[in-house]
Amino acid sequence: MANIFPKATNLILIKGLVALLIVGGLVTVAVWYYFTPKYSRVGYQPIQPVAFDHKLHVGQLGLDCRYCHSNVEVSSHSNFPSTQTCMNCHGQIQATNPKLKPVRDSWATGQPISWVKIHNVPDYAYFNHSVHVSRGVSCVSCHGQVNEMNVVWHNQSQSMAWCLNCHRNPQEYVRPVAADKPGATSPVFDLNWTPPAGKTQAELGKKLVHDWKIDPPQNCAACHR
Ligand code: HEC
Ligand code: HEC
Ligand code: HEC
Ligand code: HEC
Ligand code: HEC
Repeated sequence: MANIFPKATNLILIKGLVALLIVGGLVTVAVWYYFTPKYSRVGYQPIQPVAFDHKLHVGQLGLDCRYCHSNVEVSSHSNFPSTQTCMNCHGQIQATNPKLKPVRDSWATGQPISWVKIHNVPDYAYFNHSVHVSRGVSCVSCHGQVNEMNVVWHNQSQSMAWCLNCHRNPQEYVRPVAADKPGATSPVFDLNWTPPAGKTQAELGKKLVHDWKIDPPQNCAACHR
């Protein structure tokens, strides 16, 4: 009796099945890639040349972000602090702590510390820090609760959809730029700030957007120039 399924057919079937699995796998990977928070960028936490601790320096010692990131409200790019900034204190404090050796070496040689950059907008998109900070967008909206982080990590996706989500709903984020009480830090730099008693972010944000005529751009050319 003739074989209904000759050997060759078997091979074709198996080949087809393998091809299907491969394609299926690729589709799964692609779907996963797009729906995972921006290609798993969230959580990125590189090892830095010095184990600098924001929770200690900001949360406990109470240093203002601008003490170290002095460009953030005046320039399109923020900046890492210079070795001089660290040495203002560490020339005296913990002057022999081995964890601070790279800082002392940098000070002695004049070679800057090579901090690893965590957040990155690609060259084809335009982003300006000072525009956001001066319009009441707090560091916490874009970087998370840095004052609570022993080691900084990528907290928000910073994808295009993420930018646009705020550009469409700025009232959910914008804060007053001036401090509510004399001596207090501006709500933009005070990451623990909450609206005053009896007010909600929704009401406050709506009023700020109205009074300051805040209207973040949604057209392609604003961000892709
Ligand atoms: C005493 C100095 C100092 C102060 C004050 C400080 N920072 Fe930093 N910051 C650093 C250093 C050093 C780094 C680089 C090492 C690291 O990532 O921890 C850094 C890195 C960062 C990064 C990651 C930047 C990137 O993309 O690579 C963010 C975001 C940041 N700081 C936000 C803040 C915010 C918000 C505040 C205020 C609440 C603040 N920092 C206060 C020194 C400081
Ligand atoms: C305003 C003063 C001040 C500045 C500016 C400052 N620090 Fe510190 N730093 C301190 C104090 C205070 C401590 C904690 C001392 C203690 O634990 O007794 C500390 C501790 C440290 C430690 C040791 C933490 C440990 O676990 O042993 C490191 C590392 C450090 N700082 C890095 C830096 C770097 C890097 C910079 C510059 C980007 C910097 N600091 C700027 C005051 C400062
Ligand atoms: C509207 C969102 C947004 C706000 C608000 C914001 N950042 Fe950023 N930050 C970013 C983005 C996006 C990058 C990456 C920029 C790039 O690659 O050009 C970044 C990068 C940084 C860096 C790395 C250096 C650089 O410029 O690339 C530091 C430091 C930093 N931010 C600190 C701060 C501090 C401190 C505040 C609050 C005063 C703040 N940022 C507020 C979105 C924001
Ligand atoms: C949490 C809110 C928020 C996020 C997130 C945000 N923006 Fe904005 N953006 C604003 C506000 C508020 C303004 C000011 C609008 C005004 O002044 O009318 C603004 C203004 C701008 C402008 C116009 C001003 C200028 O610099 O030319 C550009 C461009 C811009 N944003 C790009 C971006 C990009 C790119 C991202 C993502 C990497 C981003 N924004 C994320 C709130 C946000
Ligand atoms: C508010 C700022 C903003 C606006 C408005 C904007 N983009 Fe983008 N776009 C970005 C940023 C930031 C990225 C980079 C995202 C990243 O790093 O993941 C990007 C990435 C892209 C990419 C690369 C693919 C991707 O999704 O990462 C394309 C294509 C693109 N934009 C097209 C457009 C078009 C077309 C428009 C108008 C309909 C537009 N963009 C409007 C900020 C913007």
